[in-house]
Amino acid sequence: MPTALTPEASLAFDLAHIWHPFTQMKDHQLDPPVPILGAEGVDLLLGDGRRVLDGISSWWTNIHGHGHPRLVEAMARQGAQVDHVMFAGFTHAPAVELVERLLPRVPRGLTRCFFSDNGSTAVEVALKMAFQAQAQRGQKGRVRFGALKEGYHGDTLGAVGVGELDNFLTGIFRPLLLACDRLQVPEDPRRELAPVLTGWDAALEAALLEVRNFFKDHGERLAAFIAEPMLQAAGGMRMWPPEVLRELRVQCDAYGVYLILDEVATGFGRTGTLFACEQAGVAPDLMCLSKGLTGGILPLSLTWATEELYGHFWGDYTEFRAFLHGHSYTANPLACAVACASLTLFDDEAVLDRSRLLGGALREAWQALAVHPAVRRARTLGTVAACAIVDPATGLPPPVEARFAWRFHRRALDHGLHIRPIGDCLYLMPPLVTPPDRIREAVATIVKLLDD
Ligand SMILES: Cc1ncc(COP(=O)(O)O)c(C=O)c1O
Repeated sequence: MPTALTPEASLAFDLAHIWHPFTQMKDHQLDPPVPILGAEGVDLLLGDGRRVLDGISSWWTNIHGHGHPRLVEAMARQGAQVDHVMFAGFTHAPAVELVERLLPRVPRGLTRCFFSDNGSTAVEVALKMAFQAQAQRGQKGRVRFGALKEGYHGDTLGAVGVGELDNFLTGIFRPLLLACDRLQVPEDPRRELAPVLTGWDAALEAALLEVRNFFKDHGERLAAFIAEPMLQAAGGMRMWPPEVLRELRVQCDAYGVYLILDEVATGFGRTGTLFACEQAGVAPDLMCLSKGLTGGILPLSLTWATEELYGHFWGDYTEFRAFLHGHSYTANPLACAVACASLTLFDDEAVLDRSRLLGGALREAWQALAVHPAVRRARTLGTVAACAIVDPATGLPPPVEARFAWRFHRRALDHGLHIRPIGDCLYLMPPLVTPPDRIREAVATIVKLLDD
């Protein structure tokens, strides 16, 4: 039986034995991990009594705030009924209810839903499904994938293979990865608060031509093309044009390539609509959902597919066409029940309307950053606001050794804000129910820290 540790001993034990994600553990010699004692509404309560706004929704997951009583209650109720059961050969009410409730809300044509546990596995499933479906419809030469440069789809090897290799220091894995051709898309200046639109029409035309040329070169060999619709989040909050997404849809259709939209970060109201692809009027062949699916409190993910794609897996057992993939915790009933309760909250608490209000407040408050000398290209999309940080003297991004992101994150905690820039990209992505005055406070804090 472990002894109850003092806070200091607990931290020492953590540093001695726990390996944290996305962390150079040596950094923790100076700045140990911050103990979290509580999470309430849109705030995190730190071990030393500080209360900070969860300005990035705990890695972009949180929708309704922390500890929402209806989500907590749904989890407890389900736990007392069926906690977990394997999902091969069994089914249960929370999984059926979740799919029943999402079916009318997902983009048209998506009718089949596969469960897994996190964003990366939802992507792995989509990639494998696309590849297997192509092979089983006689397209065995389609052994490559298409993806956007500066994309991110998770950290498992399949997902890394279709992500940007240089941004995430994942280049080391290059010899192990899927064959992937990458397409650069421009950022959309219309999202900026002070946009310069001269030349934009021509740039957009050029981007559309680039898509067509990419498919001319690669289209015949691709099983699928994967993209984060409208927002390349981890790639630096790159907001890209809906016209280009529509052209991707057209070209995928023309070349028989499945279009996978990864809505892991953008789904569930984050960009102002339930799914970001709605803003481009595009429906994919496969769609990945996770993060906000459970309101951000339990791990769960879905990969949605069309009837056409599903049909390529249908047959007698001895044809061996089945999709042989599954995880121990597939369709965990607790997570499904919480996801259902989260969808109820979307209706009962008008969360999409609140997300649009928050988006408006965020854009207004972000004006204060747009004019700051250390800021370039301030922009917003729904409840995501981002900008690039530069050294005002040189106009250049802070050098890597300045550790801007890490230092800013730590300083902001002292001022009541949890924020974690990606390189020189500073952004806010708060829970969708964050009150506008908290947003104004957070932006004032950022301005003050940049002034300092
Ligand atoms: C667009 C996108 N896809 C996939 C993932 C991977 O999700 P997870 O971290 O749950 O594996 C992320 C995570 O940030 C993401 O932003």
